[in-house]
Amino acid sequence: MFDSVAIAGVTGAVGQEFISLIEQRGWRGGRFRLLASARSAGRTVRIAGIEHTVEELTESSFTGVDLALFSAGGGTSKRFAPAAVKAGAVVVDNSSAFRMDPNVPLVVPEINPDDARNHQGVIANPNCSTIIMVTPVWPLHRVNRVKRIAVCTYQSASGAGMRAMEELQNQTRDVLDGKPAKPEAFPFQCAFNLFSHNSAIDETGYNTEEVKMVRETQKIFHDDDIRITATCVRVPVLRAHSEAVNLTFENPITPEEVREILSSAPGVRVVDQREPQHFPMPIEASNIDDVLVGRIRQDISQPDGCGIELFVSGDQLLKGAALNAVQIAELLT
Ligand code: A2P
Repeated sequence: MFDSVAIAGVTGAVGQEFISLIEQRGWRGGRFRLLASARSAGRTVRIAGIEHTVEELTESSFTGVDLALFSAGGGTSKRFAPAAVKAGAVVVDNSSAFRMDPNVPLVVPEINPDDARNHQGVIANPNCSTIIMVTPVWPLHRVNRVKRIAVCTYQSASGAGMRAMEELQNQTRDVLDGKPAKPEAFPFQCAFNLFSHNSAIDETGYNTEEVKMVRETQKIFHDDDIRITATCVRVPVLRAHSEAVNLTFENPITPEEVREILSSAPGVRVVDQREPQHFPMPIEASNIDDVLVGRIRQDISQPDGCGIELFVSGDQLLKGAALNAVQIAELLT
């Protein structure tokens, strides 16, 4: 494994998942440098029973480091990832800072593992909603090219970090106690509500999250012709994103074929029981590695038999972030 691993953003929601995954996956023997803002310097974090002190992230944090996992926001990645690369580390970056840089591979290990090997110091982890969508769509696309995707997301609070998760919990308590909800991490009340994803809207009317799903999917699939439209929505769920995914294939395809392909696809678990109406739910997708896929049915609005509807749920902090990054790092060993 790696001799020396730095985690930038270790005190955050994704940072904590890095620690659990490193423990679970037995990344033993290495040294760890745990990095966050000056606010967290001096805090301690246990890895496999050994106490480590959190240090302030600076340009000199990376001496001797061979892998740096970054999840401290795009600005922090832009500022400090170059220092990590200069010190000889490979950076796996969870932010959007470098994803669309043509010199930076954007990798989902089940899809384009070979891209990771062509890095120039930085490998980008895709956006969480993108990863959760493409993991089940790719095995279908390989068999029968997907020409168009129309997706609607139901995104959890965890995508906006630890403060947003705490805000959802506190607001839920406050509202139940008859107190006003205080939006701080989010622009609007999250408890007992939903709202359009709070990323910036461009001149086309799409928000940044939606644009990421379009462009990142094209980059990961190496297919600029795949047409994608997305509507991203934040819902009062703690840590797993769900998505209604409508697919148009080049050739006719049946739900049975889709179920067959997905039942042996890596990183995916089919949950599609029509009788008890047991389908993917964020509560069952939370804290597990696989993306759950169900509601597999023919799209009746496409009479040529080329349309399929899916509903997926995946843990935003795991496959949507920390797990995918850790899997990328493992490709390099
Ligand atoms: P800190 O806890 O010291 O603020 P989340 O996405 O859950 O909000 O977590 C963000 C992570 O990024 C935290 O670990 C946070 O550290 C870290 N972070 C935010 N800003 C900086 C910064 N300027 N320098 C280093 N770490 C940062």
